[in-house]
Amino acid sequence: MSKSTFAVIGFGHIGKKHAIMVSGNDDSDLVAIIDTDEAKQKKARDTYSGVQVFGSLEDFLTSDVEADVVNICTPNGYHASQAIKALDNRSHVVLEKPMGLTRQECEEVIFKSLQVSKHVFCVKQNRYSPSSKWMKSLMEENKLGRINMVQLSCYWNRDSRYYKAGGWKGTRNLDGGILFTQFSHFIDIMYWLFGDIQNIVAMSTNFNHKGSTEFDDSGLVQFEFVNGGFGSVNYSTAIYGQNFESSIVVVGEKGTLKVSGQYMDKVEYCHIEDYEMPQLPPPNPPNDYGDYKGSAANHHYVIQNVIDVLTGKSQISTNALEGMKVVEMIERIHNKQRQMLH
Ligand SMILES: NC(=O)c1ccc[n+]([C@@H]2O[C@H](COP(=O)([O-])OP(=O)(O)OC[C@H]3O[C@@H](n4cnc5c(N)ncnc54)[C@H](O)[C@@H]3O)[C@@H](O)[C@H]2O)c1
Repeated sequence: MSKSTFAVIGFGHIGKKHAIMVSGNDDSDLVAIIDTDEAKQKKARDTYSGVQVFGSLEDFLTSDVEADVVNICTPNGYHASQAIKALDNRSHVVLEKPMGLTRQECEEVIFKSLQVSKHVFCVKQNRYSPSSKWMKSLMEENKLGRINMVQLSCYWNRDSRYYKAGGWKGTRNLDGGILFTQFSHFIDIMYWLFGDIQNIVAMSTNFNHKGSTEFDDSGLVQFEFVNGGFGSVNYSTAIYGQNFESSIVVVGEKGTLKVSGQYMDKVEYCHIEDYEMPQLPPPNPPNDYGDYKGSAANHHYVIQNVIDVLTGKSQISTNALEGMKVVEMIERIHNKQRQMLH
């Protein structure tokens, strides 16, 4: 079997992890790294001799280097337009979260992928965490009966160690907000488990980041699930000193559970009718970026899924429609918050 070839665009915190996962997999070859920053290009050359390094997506697309898959690990605001260019060049695309910053640009990506018959894989690696898989199995087996209430809480710290002057983080156009950049994994898990939301009431404010972000750092959101039941999301990056918690409480007709910890990976409470809690495998540690920590280090599952799909062994674990749905939900929440403010 020939190996799948990959190019990684954006050799920053997460692009480096994509490169490690691709080059470490027996069934894939890393053939190109693309980054506009010269220091990152040098780092890529020093780390991966034999891998072609480019200073722009256009330079790569007009070169004779071909990649079956392009992994897009650049700032959020570039995801959709770069995906469309890579698809147009007849590569499959792996899109870091979020898939885009608006529903419209996600639709354009999907339209292009259908036009050229190429796949779009969205990165939502928290779905692979043992506690997430366990909650999904509970929902699929309807163990909790009717879902009455779901409460998602995301309380992390992002401060001057994260928002550096001149960077893309904190900007409206390239970052888009903390529901996109910090918490879209958790919105995705909620959507994956309980489906779409409606009748949103939301507010937001900026407690700590008025000088560093063009958007608010904290919000409260309430809604109904289309499938029934109430939900809420409380979120903030204005937590003192370090990440505090990402948790979900599920109140069902026949049971209650809480999964918490800094990264929503520890089952804190489970009481379900005629049910014994199984022993779950330990979660993978969070990605550690030095100055701050992020979501689960599960990217090897994402790359393996891409290879398995391309070799006909599996289906896409998070497809473009689901990626778009999460973007669209966040967009609707933001719109409600803006209406509230003005
Ligand atoms: N799945 C996860 O857990 C996870 C974790 C971190 C980041 N991310 C996502 O990955 C993306 C990158 O985040 P990061 O923290 O690695 O950011 P980063 O700033 O560390 O890296 C971004 C890189 O992209 C490069 N770049 C910028 N514009 C470019 C362009 N037009 N063409 C080519 N290269 C360009 C920059 O030079 C930089 O090296 C974001 O979309 C973020 O939301 C996902």
